[in-house]
Amino acid sequence: MQFGYFDDEQREYVITQPDTPLPWINYLGNEAYFGIISNTAGGYSFYKDARLRRITRYRYNNVPLDVGGRYIYIRDETDFWSPSWQPTRKDVDEYECRHGLGYTIIKSKRNGIESQTKYFVPLGQNLEVWELSITNRRERKTDLSIFSAVEFCLWDAFDDSNNYQRNYSIGEVEVENDVIYHKSEFRERRNHFAYFACSQPLAGFDTQREEFLGSYRGWDNPICVQQGVSKNSKAIGWQPIGSHHVKINLEAGETKKIIFLLGYQENSQAEKFNPPNSQTINKKYVLPIIQEYLKEETVNKAFDALKNYWETLLSKFIIDTPDIHTNRMVNIWNAYQMMVTFNFSRSASYFESGIGRGMGFRDSTQDLLGFSHLIPDRARERILDLAATQLPSGGAYHQYQPLTKLGNNDIGSDFNDDPLWLVLAVAAYIKESGDWKILDEMVPFDNQPGSEEILYEHLKRSIQYTLDRLGSHSLPLIGRADWNDCLNLNCFSDTPGQSFQTTTNKEGKVAESVFIAGLFVIAAQEMEAIASHAGNENDRSRFYNSRVNMENAIMSHGWDGKWFKRAYDNEGEAIGSSQCQEGKIFIEPQGICIMAGIGISNGVAEDALNSVKERLAFEHGIVLLDPAYKNYYLNLGEISSYPPGYKENGSVFCHTNPWIMIAETMIGRGDEAFDYYHRINPSVRERISELHRCEPYVYSQMIAGKEALKPGEAKNSWLTGTASWNYVAITQYILGIRPTYDGLQILPVIPKNWKGFSVTREYRGCEFTINVERIGLGNSTSLEVNGKKIQGTIVSTPDNGEKKLDVHVVIQ
Ligand code: GLC
Ligand code: GLC
Repeated sequence: MQFGYFDDEQREYVITQPDTPLPWINYLGNEAYFGIISNTAGGYSFYKDARLRRITRYRYNNVPLDVGGRYIYIRDETDFWSPSWQPTRKDVDEYECRHGLGYTIIKSKRNGIESQTKYFVPLGQNLEVWELSITNRRERKTDLSIFSAVEFCLWDAFDDSNNYQRNYSIGEVEVENDVIYHKSEFRERRNHFAYFACSQPLAGFDTQREEFLGSYRGWDNPICVQQGVSKNSKAIGWQPIGSHHVKINLEAGETKKIIFLLGYQENSQAEKFNPPNSQTINKKYVLPIIQEYLKEETVNKAFDALKNYWETLLSKFIIDTPDIHTNRMVNIWNAYQMMVTFNFSRSASYFESGIGRGMGFRDSTQDLLGFSHLIPDRARERILDLAATQLPSGGAYHQYQPLTKLGNNDIGSDFNDDPLWLVLAVAAYIKESGDWKILDEMVPFDNQPGSEEILYEHLKRSIQYTLDRLGSHSLPLIGRADWNDCLNLNCFSDTPGQSFQTTTNKEGKVAESVFIAGLFVIAAQEMEAIASHAGNENDRSRFYNSRVNMENAIMSHGWDGKWFKRAYDNEGEAIGSSQCQEGKIFIEPQGICIMAGIGISNGVAEDALNSVKERLAFEHGIVLLDPAYKNYYLNLGEISSYPPGYKENGSVFCHTNPWIMIAETMIGRGDEAFDYYHRINPSVRERISELHRCEPYVYSQMIAGKEALKPGEAKNSWLTGTASWNYVAITQYILGIRPTYDGLQILPVIPKNWKGFSVTREYRGCEFTINVERIGLGNSTSLEVNGKKIQGTIVSTPDNGEKKLDVHVVIQ
């Protein structure tokens, strides 16, 4: 069953009924001002940091679902309703929500009154526009009241949901010339405020929640809306809100537009107040912005600019394959989701509260793997920010706060895979951009001035960090956890409420990770190439030697006979081995070790992938481990805390599936790779939306596994490493369009029944037009560039200034 459809032409997903299985969300904003918006206008906004600069309130895990949003009420003589269905949830005769790239448009109709609200954040602005058009489809003239409503958050979203003894007394607003300003704490140390403005003269306003709603009433039934009059309330303390009341009359057939602006502004200390010694916000800088964006022409232009922005970005890589699901994910939604994961890491979604985690180190580094071609400059900046949170030991803070860019002490360090991902991110960036100079950038450790070293030195320390921490099988010690946050081999927690991630009860000198070993091999290979390029033979051979030692350790102690083992626990017992009662095989080491090239030439990789197929794959994807843990194991930690089939305990943890797709291409099995790609592709799964439940246009972190209550049910959509990795798997390995240090490699491993495909891709300032034609059933390729046959599979960018390359590829 579906709840909407893809409009590929418009690059939109169109939702046709408001009560989707879960709120289906979209993101507004691109650089600093951001928002989450659901298909019924739920969600919230923030400036840069979802925790520290939350602009509006949202109530996570509430009933009914999705409370708090960008609300509008329409009231006629007898009736009132929400044009976005929520929060009144009164029936609408027609409903449609179009989630597009950076905007959402919600349309509905009730009793002959049609409305459409377009929500978006103009490029370069710290504000959001709600453009409401109302049309009277009745036969007669109609008088309407329109009410807007947002609830302000008192900035720090964590405090806001905790410290009520203080919060109930700090709220402050100003209302001047019909603009509502939220300025809690502005009188003391904050230099920022929010505003809520409306293009029409007001019949009234409210800023105190209780006055607007009436006591013991909810957003579904505000007393002011019911009665048709605002109270002009001024909030001091309690819960500041913003609500405008506008009266309009519409002739039959007439349309009117109302623009609402919600924005964020900072004033310098010197010009904070006006008059200077008052407590009144100085509006000198904000008023011109408000006036500008309340104009219809400005809004139209800003919206067109946003559409063009995305069109230009996405046109950097366009594919045309025989499969519509692949085309729409790669050309539109997967690229878009990568931008969102790049922006938010794992901080703010319908499942991530925006207060828990900042930017994850391993998350953000992996998010860069597919992203770099979209906006190379932002990738570069992110790499340097991440590297600056690295510790002198080579280790890394597991997370950092986007506003301050400082490492997060609450969670700290010692996730032993973290630093290696930095190498992969830098490698991916250089392969895309050819910008070797990044390696010479001076970057501090732990953001300490004076500690700067070149980025290359940071990468060397990442490698050294692993080498300094090897266990008795010469495999890397796992620390708190490796990629799998829930495999906590040093935790041994029997105390409820302890954090599995930060509690460590064992010294950590025994438990080893085969996963980190595989990741190390990949990172060391990249470092070999990087050192070679710099002509640094010493370094290169050191990286080479340590890599070969690691490969040997993997084959001696990490191979179980039919698949790679996962780890060794604190007793030195193997995990993910046929000897185990539960958790006999894990997906991660099969993916990472084969991606590292291990066992490809001698059949080991093929054996491992056959085991994956036999034991881990099922119709909804490839589960993380099998059989799932039914008991809680003290020596394993959080992984065994989830019911079987959920999260790390045997769900399809989608992030890992592309590793297997890539591995399959590495042994030449395009049909298997593509089959796995299809199993978790959200567009393919659209037809089972009642089961999948999450948005059909983006990847979710997990899909419930074979042993779950409802196999196939997805959770945690949007913010997942799946976005970047799956993009890498489909574009670089299945379609085989792969940036390398030396140029663009073209090495497809596609399904046997594909006749071919074509691609246009911008690469290092050159436009590649690539046509691939299959004439036999194998994977061997021959390339012609601008009509001339070339050796090998790598096309370097011309040094004669040519900007267009035509590549013809024959597969047989
Ligand atoms: C979550 C985390 C990620 C981790 C994964 C597996 O997605 O964000 O860092 O690798 O879970 O535990
Ligand atoms: C939980 C989740 C895991 C996530 C981690 C982040 O353990 O299961 O997926 O990576 O929290 O702290």
